[in-house]
Amino acid sequence: MSLKGGYQALACTGLFAALGGFMPAPAVGSTPDPLEPTGQWMEKSFGSAALPPMGWNSWNAFHTQIDEAKLIGSAQAIVDSGLRDLGYRYINIDDGWWQKRRQPDGRMVVRTSIFPSATGAGPEETSLRPLVDRLHSMQLKAGIYSDIGRNACSQGYPSPDSLLPTGTVAEREVGLYDHLAQDLTLYFQEWGFDYIKVDGCGLNAFSADKPAVKAGQFRAFPALVVSDSINQTRVADIRNLYGRLRDELMRVRPMGDFVFSICNWGTANVRAWGRDYGNLWRTSDDIEPRWARMLYNFDSVATRELYSGPGHWNDPDMLYVGQGEFDANHLTEARTHFALWSIVDAPLLIGYDLRQAPKALLEVLGAPEIVAVNQDPAGNQGVLAYTSDDLQIFVKQLAARDEKAVVIFNRGTEQVNAVLTAAHLKFRPGTTIQVRDLWRRRDLPAFTDEVTFALAPRESVTLRVKGQPLLADGMYLSEMPARLYVAADGIDALQADPQIHRPVNMGDGTTRGSGPRPALAGWGGARADSTPYNNELRLRGKAYTSGIGVLANSRLQVRADGQFNQFSAQVGMDDSSLEQRTKVRFEVYGDGRLLARSPALGAMDAPFDLDAKVAGVKTIELVAREMGKGSAPAVVAWGAAALRH
Ligand code: GLA
Repeated sequence: MSLKGGYQALACTGLFAALGGFMPAPAVGSTPDPLEPTGQWMEKSFGSAALPPMGWNSWNAFHTQIDEAKLIGSAQAIVDSGLRDLGYRYINIDDGWWQKRRQPDGRMVVRTSIFPSATGAGPEETSLRPLVDRLHSMQLKAGIYSDIGRNACSQGYPSPDSLLPTGTVAEREVGLYDHLAQDLTLYFQEWGFDYIKVDGCGLNAFSADKPAVKAGQFRAFPALVVSDSINQTRVADIRNLYGRLRDELMRVRPMGDFVFSICNWGTANVRAWGRDYGNLWRTSDDIEPRWARMLYNFDSVATRELYSGPGHWNDPDMLYVGQGEFDANHLTEARTHFALWSIVDAPLLIGYDLRQAPKALLEVLGAPEIVAVNQDPAGNQGVLAYTSDDLQIFVKQLAARDEKAVVIFNRGTEQVNAVLTAAHLKFRPGTTIQVRDLWRRRDLPAFTDEVTFALAPRESVTLRVKGQPLLADGMYLSEMPARLYVAADGIDALQADPQIHRPVNMGDGTTRGSGPRPALAGWGGARADSTPYNNELRLRGKAYTSGIGVLANSRLQVRADGQFNQFSAQVGMDDSSLEQRTKVRFEVYGDGRLLARSPALGAMDAPFDLDAKVAGVKTIELVAREMGKGSAPAVVAWGAAALRH
């Protein structure tokens, strides 16, 4: 449902002032130069998500028709089926749990008709503590849901059967806005929750032009998020609101025992800042139980490999395994959906009524070797080694240097004979490669150089391979996305990413209107083994199968942790660069000190060998600095960029 698109931004400072309370992001006086090396790893560390969170969430299974019996029933099924012991720990309540905000003190009241254990001494004396205690006693963890604005998604986009907050306008303001400290203290300290998902409908569904707002049902809130228009979305304001929330979480849980899930559907360029604000951030609008929509959600993370890592994960939304086109009659699709989420390090949050799960579906969700791909401790998101509209090959470097996980994915409608090569795996040609089929949990015959898999439409193959890395004494940077942090991406003007699949809308009568358009910012971001615009990395005709592609005026950090001795790359302006006239200088810093620098390189210059000694260096910084200002984005390549021991 692209329910959130198509709204007018009314935001202007005067309006904010008139609304009272909302403060736009302050004008920034002297911002630090984004290209200036800091000498320190800049990614913020907080929360408890060293691995992608795993668990269950009520929304896809029940929407607001959640109740305690359904929740405990699914939790019990997670325990009984062995899924808990496989890592599914979080039991997350989504929208619908609230009755109202008590007046005048603002304490949140639980809807006890569906959560009877929350009943207290009086009708407005409720507590979810008993439920949380019960989940904890089952060795599970508990998650709650709120909204960053004053009101929530079910209020902004109600269905006929939605259980909505009741009472006066103020009583129905169940979101965190103006109640941040009060609500987080209640949820995390008094009730004992471990996880919070924070939606963003309060920032896009309650602008003054909305009929329900005009009718006086809700207080107006400016449309900071304009889902179908990145240029009208107030990126800094939204980021600041989520930043305040993160800071407040650190106050209520100073030991960092929380998980913070940002749910703003990939808007506001969250790709670029999610990592510093939350433990996971949605990259797209809501998933639906149909193939085409799953592709849309998946594509919104598939090229974001350099933006996630331990503690900080891209979130293509919760799983739909078990329903619609991923039900027990569609096990090929269900397996593919699950394998794709695994290889891109997506959170594995089941969205299905597990009380009635057939064995075949529990076997999908509980496939131990697929889950292990997702939970590999190195936290490298799978990187595209081959891509087309029909077939993709993802390769994920695992913690063991000589092991990789692979998903070969037939997106199309025809059978494909997919050839997996040693080059895709960055393994040495002519050497033996061991292969294991992770769904069947059995070894396949070893191969050298290449092996072919026949894939039916929508089928995928998930493998673990073991071989001799091409770089025996080190690693390509594109094999270690978890160690890269994009400190500055060089993007001047945000552009919607055209690579993301655009399915027919289901929510609003299918083909009325002119169809969905690219809407999620991210086009032009840093990439592993690709240019920012999905071209092969190439310098003066020489192609690089390994390397980092990025725009000029960028700074990448690499967490070396003193484990390497030598950095090397062949650098230059990529042949595909839109800008051809300016020149770019490449600089390598180690813990803030300049270690190596290229001359200014233009489109006609041969690739330049840039080497630096990095023994003992903790943080390497790679700066590509444009000399002068071009009229189009300058695409640069750190070809074959590698760290050696
Ligand atoms: C939004 C979110 C969903 C779910 C609903 C609840 O649509 O993206 O995941 O939380 O709100 O209303």
